[in-house]
Amino acid sequence: MDRLPETSRRQFLQRSAALTAALASGALGSTLAASPAGAPAPASPASPPRNLPFGTFPADFRWGAAAAAYQIEGAATEDGRLPSIWDSFSHTPGKVVNGDHADVACDHYHRFPEDVRLMADLGVKHYRLSISWSRVLPTGRGRVNDKGLDFYRRLCDELGSRGITPHATLYHWDLPQALQDEYRGWEDDRVINDFADYAGTMARLLGDRVQSWMTLNEIQSFAARAGYSYGRPAKHAPGIELSSKQIHRQLVHRTLLAHGKACQALRASSPKPCQVGLAENYSSLVPLIETPEHIAAARKAFLEDEYNGGILLPLLTGRYNEAWLAERRESAPRFTEAEMTLIGQPLDFLGFNCYSGGYVKASETAPGYERVPLPSAYPKMNISWLNVVPESIYWGIRLVSEAVGATRLPIIISENGCPDARTDGGTDDADRIMYLRAYLRNVQRAAAEGYPVVGYFPWSFMDNFEWAEGYAKRFGLIHVDFATQKRTHKASAAWYRELVRTHRIP
Ligand code: BGC
Repeated sequence: MDRLPETSRRQFLQRSAALTAALASGALGSTLAASPAGAPAPASPASPPRNLPFGTFPADFRWGAAAAAYQIEGAATEDGRLPSIWDSFSHTPGKVVNGDHADVACDHYHRFPEDVRLMADLGVKHYRLSISWSRVLPTGRGRVNDKGLDFYRRLCDELGSRGITPHATLYHWDLPQALQDEYRGWEDDRVINDFADYAGTMARLLGDRVQSWMTLNEIQSFAARAGYSYGRPAKHAPGIELSSKQIHRQLVHRTLLAHGKACQALRASSPKPCQVGLAENYSSLVPLIETPEHIAAARKAFLEDEYNGGILLPLLTGRYNEAWLAERRESAPRFTEAEMTLIGQPLDFLGFNCYSGGYVKASETAPGYERVPLPSAYPKMNISWLNVVPESIYWGIRLVSEAVGATRLPIIISENGCPDARTDGGTDDADRIMYLRAYLRNVQRAAAEGYPVVGYFPWSFMDNFEWAEGYAKRFGLIHVDFATQKRTHKASAAWYRELVRTHRIP
């Protein structure tokens, strides 16, 4: 365990006692090893290494496909759906490349039987979908829109008929515009209860068909980096620049509360036992060289990272990291003990959305690590932010065990992928295959070493509306011609089908 500064000792002892009591009462769930925030004990995997031949996955590993409501459904004004903040944002000139919006997108609302058949062709047994809040509760709360609900029932039935299990995300960034208009959405505490009520309603009405729930998708993206900002423009809906860092961190804190309350609502309302988690793109930090000193540096950097400290740690431990709080001083979020208990609801799994990561190395000077800037010619995929860091998926899994101490918490790779760069209409996406192969070797390494990674959902099942990039960036295994809605398998789809069939990286 790292040495604690003298001033923190008393606090540490008090917190240890509180944590022990919480663990004994089951409040933190059974998945967390006792590792007080700010003083992690490096933990090894809970399971011994598995004897898996190179590139081979366990037979019970779950292979899936993933997409999100606003990105694929279309039917924006049909059957009682009202606008979400993304409808408003994408229809605001200058916000999305080429003025694209998702009024039609992949027309999945009408074409879902074909899409489910294509999914079944891949051999996957799991599908991560998201529910459009404003399709089922058009004004955000109150009366349920039966036709909207019926769409998700029919979709789940179609999936069921092909032996595919649905995993539903409740919030993939599409807040009902009505709640934005009424109280400025995530800027107001009223959103916490509204989100929890929506979660409970979904569990009650869809819980016969869905038993795997993710509350929020990527708090880091929609609250901390893209939807809201401080000191720079916000590039995603609702596109709001906040007036202080403290207000911004408080907004992120509010999303954690909404998550916690939604976990409770899901469990209380589900007619069947259900699994509850969320999908987060927490920061992954890769030791530049795999030696004990650089690994220790990565461990520390992982816990003190702006987003891990402000999002992942409270979610998994019910506490903010002390060093993280101290560093942020008066711009830190304000909270009560009761709020932290709510935030740290036990999770059944953690969804890890992994695209990229950063390198760190040990340093003689405080804080004991340095981030390594990427050289200008460092490889990237076909979108500005996507540096190719395949080891980030391994370290993201390992550090949840080793730095946070959650050694038994099942991790599902809830997203991983890249846009291909073919512009000639061809479907041999060698770039995507290269990327997926490299990342999956690292997922396999984590599984082989005994870390609890249990499933993988490539992003995305098919080309779709890529937020502020519109249709200019294609993340799909399946190509969509948006003029004709024709779907065509890319080479990566055939590659993935082979992986799913053989459990071995082809
Ligand atoms: C999001 C997806 C998005 C993907 C690629 C993730 O941040 O959850 O909705 O399409 O990354 O940008």
